[in-house]
Amino acid sequence: MNADGKVIKKVSIKINSPEKLNVKMNKDLFEWVIENLLKNSLDAIDKTTGIIEFTVHNRDKEVLLDVTDNGKGIDKKFRKDIFRPGYSTKLRGWGLGLSLAKRIIDVYHKGKLTLIDSILDKGTTFRIKLAK
Ligand SMILES: Nc1ncnc2c1ncn2[C@@H]1O[C@H](COP(=O)(O)OP(=O)(O)O)[C@@H](O)[C@H]1O
Ligand SMILES: [Mg+2]
Repeated sequence: MNADGKVIKKVSIKINSPEKLNVKMNKDLFEWVIENLLKNSLDAIDKTTGIIEFTVHNRDKEVLLDVTDNGKGIDKKFRKDIFRPGYSTKLRGWGLGLSLAKRIIDVYHKGKLTLIDSILDKGTTFRIKLAK
């Protein structure tokens, strides 16, 4: 803990990307999505050593980007709520990040933003799928 009573976390960020890829996207909106997923992962990390990993999978017609953290995870019964505007478990949360991120990926980019895995106290993985 530091002088303000905040818990100091050490978080390493790993990027696994096999090769250079070209995907059509709106750079500003995509950056916003990544920033929001990253912030959520940082918020979720309650361990002193955090890991956030970005993994790119290159498929025939699409590119997958998985964002995995070793944070506190999402309870099964709340998984249906996380993309709903206004849903937040945070003291000062607006609950808008994921709903907007999903709209940016699903509607604007015609891709898919999904929660693919989450285990309580172990971590969470979100996946962005974009067409090439
Ligand atoms: N990586 C994550 N790990 C655990 N819970 C998450 C994660 N990302 C999102 N959540 C849950 O989904 C909720 C909604 O997220 P979001 O829409 O970004 O709103 P906010 O960050 O303002 O709470 C969060 O409050 C949190 O409960
Ligand atoms: Mg958020």
